[in-house]
Amino acid sequence: MKLRLALAFVALAAAAFASREKPVIGLSLDTLKEERWQRDRDTFIAEAKKLGATVIVQSANSDDTRQVRDVESLISRKVDVLVIVPHNGAAMTRAVKSANDAKIPVIAYDRLILNAHIDYYLTFDNVKVGEAQGGYAAARLPKDRTARIVRIYGAPTDNNAKLFKQGQDNVLAPLIQAGRVQVVHEDWALDWKPENAKKIMNAAITKAGRNIDAVVVSNDGTAGGAIQALLEEGLAGKVLVTGQDADLAACQRILRGTQAMTVYKPLKNLASLAARVAVEVAQGKQPATTATLDNGAKAVPSIFETVISVDKENLLSTVVADGFHPAAALK
Ligand code: BGC
Repeated sequence: MKLRLALAFVALAAAAFASREKPVIGLSLDTLKEERWQRDRDTFIAEAKKLGATVIVQSANSDDTRQVRDVESLISRKVDVLVIVPHNGAAMTRAVKSANDAKIPVIAYDRLILNAHIDYYLTFDNVKVGEAQGGYAAARLPKDRTARIVRIYGAPTDNNAKLFKQGQDNVLAPLIQAGRVQVVHEDWALDWKPENAKKIMNAAITKAGRNIDAVVVSNDGTAGGAIQALLEEGLAGKVLVTGQDADLAACQRILRGTQAMTVYKPLKNLASLAARVAVEVAQGKQPATTATLDNGAKAVPSIFETVISVDKENLLSTVVADGFHPAAALK
């Protein structure tokens, strides 16, 4: 009897060891519609594979109910660790509770999950992204009169969208208060959809007229929507437009002159860091972090990767030199 028990224990320990050596990672994504998330996924999987882990990927198509279900299904498949890009930072709190109950560690990737006991938060410096956007526009606005700008923020359900706005505010608010800049229209683009950004830009032109100096837009997808509206009015290239992500279409627009800048986030750094952290966490280690961020429930150990402001002057020496897009694709 004792021998049988001991053997069972050895078998159990071996199974646990095997799972730690070759962990299974559950990756729950909000969406794969934007170019960047496909790249995040591919880099993450490739790095995890190098480290001996396997990854089960789910994508929720911007649907909270579906993402909660995705995470619950990953929990029932007994993954060793969860990596989540929440569609809605508040709606995922419930799913994290289920993971906590199942003793599965959770890493928030790129976007924070609010009021939840997550183990790590790995992201870019999102406030710096906003500062780069606001700063780029501010430096190029007319100085001899009050500049007129439109602001298109991201999805109100994404905590990052608020951080991008906060960064933009850091630069723009003093200018607005001093009367040097006037915000003629502003709105949030639901689900970061380009068509929603286009509608906001159309509304801005209807309300404020064609006399607009800059449109501070929070990412490249929505910048594309705003630029479409500007194109239809014959204003594309005449109004400064900001973005983020260095999407291929945005880099092409920068070279063509219809978009002024983007913020390049070296995704391979973040995605491979996340794969390494996920594997270490699954192996019971405590990866080192460089910061903490309060998500309402705890000070979450975090890492903020750096970002680079890009326009036509440095596109080749940054995005292309880094292998993010081949030069030939930009023609
Ligand atoms: C990400 C951006 C992305 C946006 C829309 C944000 O949370 O940080 O890189 O463009 O979501 O997907």
